[in-house]
Amino acid sequence: MQLFEAVFQPLSLADFRQHFDEGKCLVVEGAANKFDGLVTPEDIERRLNDGCNANQFVQVIKDGARSANLMSNCAWSPAALNKSAVTQDLQDGYSFMMPNSSQITPGIARLCTELEAFFTDQAMHADVHLYVSTNDSGNSYNAHRDLPQHKILLQSHGDAVWQIFEPKKDIPNHVRAMTPEQEQEYLTIASEFTLKQGSLLYMPPGTFHRVVRVTGPRISISIPFYALQSAEKMDRSRIPFVELFAKMKTHTGN
Ligand SMILES: [Fe+2]
Repeated sequence: MQLFEAVFQPLSLADFRQHFDEGKCLVVEGAANKFDGLVTPEDIERRLNDGCNANQFVQVIKDGARSANLMSNCAWSPAALNKSAVTQDLQDGYSFMMPNSSQITPGIARLCTELEAFFTDQAMHADVHLYVSTNDSGNSYNAHRDLPQHKILLQSHGDAVWQIFEPKKDIPNHVRAMTPEQEQEYLTIASEFTLKQGSLLYMPPGTFHRVVRVTGPRISISIPFYALQSAEKMDRSRIPFVELFAKMKTHTGN
């Protein structure tokens, strides 16, 4: 079975497609170990510490928004992560987000490639944002909506309490995120639920939402995706360097 099909079990991909086509949210509850091995704390530690050729950065979430913590005056890279500051933020309990993570493990890469292939009628492009908190005080964004992307969330480690909103009145198009005061004025809670470890959430574009709190150390695998005809598909194939290197050694007799 394809991995993209397995994450929706016991529902089918046809069930997912129906919600997608109708623009409806979907929650699929699963066993706590359902997403085991997709991404581990060790995978995250490796990426946090490998500053090589990074083009998107770990962003710490503070005051309802996120910011990159970079050392822009570093001699060899304008994008070196200020790792001591990130360690301090983690110790202080802030959550962080790792964008551009669709190749962090072979499993995640396969999931994204299968998602893109599932939409044979649209040129779909997926990314992965990992949301990580080390304890119960992990924070999140204010109420907001993501456009134009659809979103699939896999709750890999820990639990997260979600609120999904409906507008009380017309909201200007340019408004994406809301202050708590705007939330009171414009939004009403349509549903509040705990996305437990092993559960999946699908959200259509434009859905106002907020993670209210998290339980335990948590890793949420967020998969945003949208159709874009003119863009190239990301090549997530694996470069078999070890194999090629071994062959080179054999040929040269070293
Ligand atoms: Fe969001």
